[in-house]
Amino acid sequence: MSCIKVDSLSKSYGSIKAVDEITMSVKSGKVFGFLGPNGAGKSTTIKLLTTLIHPSEGSLTILGIDAIKNPLKVRHKIGVVLQQPSYEPTLSVEKSLEKYGMMWNVPKKERKSRMEKLLVDFDLTEFRKKRNEDLSIGQRRRVQVAREFMHDMDLLFLDEPTAGLDPSARRKLLDYLKDRVKTGLTIFFTTHILTEAEYLCDEIAIIDKGKILAIDTPDALKNRFGKEKTIKIHLLENQQEISSLLSGIPDCKIDFNTGTNIIIHSEKSELVLMKVLRILSDNGIKIDDLSAVPTNLEEIFLKMVEENVSNH
Ligand SMILES: Nc1ncnc2c1ncn2[C@@H]1O[C@H](COP(=O)(O)OP(=O)(O)O)[C@@H](O)[C@H]1O
Ligand SMILES: [Mg+2]
Repeated sequence: MSCIKVDSLSKSYGSIKAVDEITMSVKSGKVFGFLGPNGAGKSTTIKLLTTLIHPSEGSLTILGIDAIKNPLKVRHKIGVVLQQPSYEPTLSVEKSLEKYGMMWNVPKKERKSRMEKLLVDFDLTEFRKKRNEDLSIGQRRRVQVAREFMHDMDLLFLDEPTAGLDPSARRKLLDYLKDRVKTGLTIFFTTHILTEAEYLCDEIAIIDKGKILAIDTPDALKNRFGKEKTIKIHLLENQQEISSLLSGIPDCKIDFNTGTNIIIHSEKSELVLMKVLRILSDNGIKIDDLSAVPTNLEEIFLKMVEENVSNH
């Protein structure tokens, strides 16, 4: 069953299309990752999906409910952790969790036992009496994510939840989320960090400039480019005409060219490399360094985003 269904959803701010006709569906019990650079439209998408802002166009069904017609009904069933920090400065960690439980009408006994468990799971026990304003940014972020788990929900939206966390806290949070998904929760998660998306997500959408460039499982994304290799050549001297010299080679996509650094993606890398080397040598162009490696997910991501930039 799909628990999020989005069709041609857009949000414009004046002339900026922050979200540009996205269409996708997210299956229940999975982690769906929204991966994109800063300004890609991740936060705007989360705000649309959680009914905090109204779309310019398109349709949106959350947990089977028309979210545009019935935003409040949706909000009762979901959890949201937004990107911007939100906390009450003078409230202690304990009180923050307690208050959240009360807001969601969790019975007293249940509130107490959930709080105790969350304090442990989020490594907050030793700061439980501390006020939010006296915590580090990472500790506050942990409180902000932890308190969302005070209530039951079917679907949780997290906008860059690991921002400000150190590597060990980051990994702990991702593992905690993985565990919760095993118990039936669905998570919609945004990040600009590819390794995080790869670690946590069943499916990843790559988004840039408001548009979805690809949606697939991490493995399928890798397979799609599986035969492809990335050839990197560093020249001794700047050669502005290098693009035109290499432009005639078949199956040779030059992605980035500053005149000294050439990055080529090709599925026939051996052949392409031979041809490139011949052209360079014929033109008396000297190479400083050269490598050819399988394209990894990080490069697929960067490449998609770069191609998207050059298409504009
Ligand atoms: N309230 C707003 N008013 C005007 N422009 C906005 C607003 N919110 C977001 N934007 C613009 O929309 C684009 C996407 O922003 P955002 O969704 O925050 O991206 P991300 O979360 O991926 O970094 C950016 O160009 C941003 O400047
Ligand atoms: Mg954002």
